[in-house]
Amino acid sequence: MAKLNWGIIGGGEGSQIGLAHRMCSALDDKFQFRAGAMDVDPVKACEYGTRLGLEPDRAYGSWQDMLAAEKIREDRLDLVTIATPNSTHFEITKAFLENGFNVLCEKPMTMTLDEAKEIVALQAKTGQICAVNYGYSGYPMVRQMREMVRNGDLGAVRSFVAEFSHGFHADAADADNPRVRWRYDPKQAGVSAQFADCGIHALHLASFVLGQNPKKVSADFAACVPGRELEDDALVALRMDQGAVGRLWSSSIAIGRMHGLTLQVFGEKGGLRWAQEQPNQLYWNPINQSVQILERGQAGLSDASIDASRLTIGHAEGAPVAFANIYKSIAKDIEARKLGLSLDQNELGYPTAFDGMVSMAAIDAAAKSATAASAWTELDLN
Ligand code: NAI
Repeated sequence: MAKLNWGIIGGGEGSQIGLAHRMCSALDDKFQFRAGAMDVDPVKACEYGTRLGLEPDRAYGSWQDMLAAEKIREDRLDLVTIATPNSTHFEITKAFLENGFNVLCEKPMTMTLDEAKEIVALQAKTGQICAVNYGYSGYPMVRQMREMVRNGDLGAVRSFVAEFSHGFHADAADADNPRVRWRYDPKQAGVSAQFADCGIHALHLASFVLGQNPKKVSADFAACVPGRELEDDALVALRMDQGAVGRLWSSSIAIGRMHGLTLQVFGEKGGLRWAQEQPNQLYWNPINQSVQILERGQAGLSDASIDASRLTIGHAEGAPVAFANIYKSIAKDIEARKLGLSLDQNELGYPTAFDGMVSMAAIDAAAKSATAASAWTELDLN
């Protein structure tokens, strides 16, 4: 099959996530970078797009121009990635879905739960792909964990502990730095800062591995650096919809933590432990036996893990390959659709608009709980 046409909105020069999207969409030779509106400044957007090799007529000055021109092209885009700041995701995702494009939106999918519900309804109505970039679910050993849970290796999952903490907003002297300050300002960030930005990745990871969604939460949010309105440290207890108990800690003031995304899963017959900073190793402890270290790429792992892995065993494969697995999974779905086939919804391999909505419901419920003395609060998924 010919390469799929791919475009991006945002991700301009100097942005944090733009390069990752270009690298990861290209890794498996499934997508060809064809169009972009990459910067909020129209002149820079056109200049940067052409410098990256786009045809001048497809290096757009705004996403509105891109939509207007791309929707009438015969070689229209097969996938549009939205990598702009959070407050723009809803409007752009909605516009592209309504015009028949498949979308991969950066997280958070929207700013509010109501907007997230609208996107889920729109996705169902249009039938287009609407994926959300919870890229950590693409790690091969995360997919191995999910398969082991599915296979029943752990028995029923009783509980999990998830963390996503770093220490890069711990310096009170830097709290007024504009790049830091907006994150803790409710007018710009919404109802939650650290839980919504990082904790939600850990929660999505747990949901992905367990195959369970959060049902209710009890949250304790703290703004430890003086002057912050929103939390820089969050502790969230969870009850999942199929019975598992969850404990999640996310902090941005944890000096010494770097990119501390970890997940431990405890079942009736064994426990698993995985950490994003050592993604090639998965610790598996069957009950009453010694701990085993499963290594990415070794024989005997699940097909899902092998399919997600690219480099020979022992090489330091990491985040770009994990994110590329989201693109690989989306490409598989687009190609199937082009052939008139329909993939099993449980095997899509990429986070969907529904996952984006569950995240928004969890953020909403946790923020409400945190202002009500940690009262248990149900997620509103109706
Ligand atoms: P950034 O501020 O570094 O870059 C944003 C880019 O979007 C800039 O190039 C800017 O000019 C452009 N832009 C802004 N408004 C635009 C518009 N209306 N049209 C076109 N371009 C526009 O932001 P960063 O850190 O790259 O984050 C972007 C998104 O990616 C955020 O939603 C963030 O939450 C998400 N993100 C996700 C990660 C993940 O692990 N999935 C990791 C890092 C960021």
